[in-house]
Amino acid sequence: MLELAGVDAFYGDSHVLQDVSFAVRAGACFGLLGRNGVGKTTTLRTVLGYLRARNGTIRFDGEAIEGRPTYEIVRRGISYVPEDRGIFRSLTVEEHLRVADRAAGRHERLSVEEVYGLFPRLAERRRNLGGQLSGGEQQMLAIARALVGSSRFVIMDEPTEGLAPVVIEQISQAIRRLRANGTTMLLVETNFHVARAVCDECCLLDRGRVVFQGAMAELAPDSEIVKSFIGV
Ligand SMILES: Nc1ncnc2c1ncn2[C@@H]1O[C@H](COP(=O)(O)OP(=O)(O)OP(=O)(O)O)[C@@H](O)[C@H]1O
Ligand SMILES: [Mg+2]
Repeated sequence: MLELAGVDAFYGDSHVLQDVSFAVRAGACFGLLGRNGVGKTTTLRTVLGYLRARNGTIRFDGEAIEGRPTYEIVRRGISYVPEDRGIFRSLTVEEHLRVADRAAGRHERLSVEEVYGLFPRLAERRRNLGGQLSGGEQQMLAIARALVGSSRFVIMDEPTEGLAPVVIEQISQAIRRLRANGTTMLLVETNFHVARAVCDECCLLDRGRVVFQGAMAELAPDSEIVKSFIGV
């Protein structure tokens, strides 16, 4: 569904992505893994057209999207849950979801009631303001809002970062349910255990290069590659 081939990207003179290639199959939950600063967010920003690929091709549904503007890329049915979550302090949970519902295109997507089913905690908090939510609730809302926009292909940047284990488990369960419902996901994770619990395929980045791509199950937690490039 999404395919990168030989992608290079730069911040000024700094060559951040070097010959990055990987492919996300329709229906997969694909993990983009690696330590801090290796280029995971940069890869997502390049796919979404916030940053221009200097070389290489990026295909979505078989069509080249590199160099296209972001609004046109997301119109194809890609939704994005950014690292900073992007929750508004003075809008309620319900308002976040209604705004996303009105702005959505014609893609496969979840209704507001369906995302409340996925995250019952958000249903309880529907009248609370964004600024009153815990970190975990804000993350759930960020994912819920993305799904109301499109549930075809969802890109998430470290959805479990900084959250308590019980909340990480809730988010992992939601990701598994989405996958069971046919949503394709590209998930950036630095937590190896979360990646193992939710991803079926992955690639491992180190200093802007892909050092492993394959089935998640091939990456044994005690393997040298995991110890060197992720840490557990
Ligand atoms: N706007 C920018 N301008 C210049 N350099 C940047 C910019 N954003 C990131 N970088 C650099 O590019 C490299 C890759 O950063 P990136 O944010 O993609 O890493 P990451 O894998 O997402 O890390 P983290 O796990 O900390 O989120 C890092 O060396 C970072 O310092
Ligand atoms: Mg990042």
